[in-house]
Amino acid sequence: MGAFDEPRGGALPRGPLAHEDRKALPPEARAFLEAMERRYACKLYDGKPLPRALEDYILECGRLSPSSFGLEHWRFVAVREAAAKERLFAACFAQESVRTASLVVVALARRAAAYGPETDFVKARAERFPGGWPVFREDYKGYYAFLAENGLLEHWAKAQTYIACANMMTGAAAAGLDSCAIEGYKEPEVLSAIGADPGEWLVGIVTVFGRRAEEPREKIREPFEAVVDYR
Ligand SMILES: Cc1cc2nc3c(=O)[nH]c(=O)nc-3n(C[C@H](O)[C@H](O)[C@H](O)COP(=O)(O)O)c2cc1C
Repeated sequence: MGAFDEPRGGALPRGPLAHEDRKALPPEARAFLEAMERRYACKLYDGKPLPRALEDYILECGRLSPSSFGLEHWRFVAVREAAAKERLFAACFAQESVRTASLVVVALARRAAAYGPETDFVKARAERFPGGWPVFREDYKGYYAFLAENGLLEHWAKAQTYIACANMMTGAAAAGLDSCAIEGYKEPEVLSAIGADPGEWLVGIVTVFGRRAEEPREKIREPFEAVVDYR
């Protein structure tokens, strides 16, 4: 039995995909579901360096994530160095997961000023798409105006990083690694710890990765019927 097959305590209420039913799934989907089940919020790691290929793999899961209008609002700062992790530990309310993780990824998001339809950032991103910036701008400007008028630009930008975080965590689980999203942080301190300009960047989400140095906790979830409505 490999690490992947270790039982998780059996507390996970099974949905419609209990053991027999999941045999109908393609093997890749079954493996994905198992990675979802295997992932849990790991709070303590062994701190040993990860092979560079695994670090790159986690970050590639972030890079390949979808984002609104394909703008890739983010930048991922991958921290392995002990002194920098120590600064992040302090910035994250002294959560041991941050100090002991092998890799701490700070997903930054650009601040509101970047997203105007005429900015260099939007132009550069837009030029990559068919029709380039002129076509993109027509599609984008109405939604941009809606976000800007309602003060939602930075909320919108930050939300994109959560998608990347989720993909990196599930990707890590698929590779037998542990992880935890970290929302408990003091933004100015995180930015200062990694030398990011607070005029340009906000913290989207922090995510820690590594190999667990603790027993995994059982997964607690509402039953399928309690959270899903088919219409
Ligand atoms: C956006 C987000 C932020 C979180 N922030 C923290 C955090 O700062 N510290 C922590 O220990 N856990 C944090 N968690 C972990 C959650 O508490 C955990 O995912 C949840 O209780 C479900 O448990 P599971 O991930 O083990 O299934 C966060 C999770 C998410 C999704």
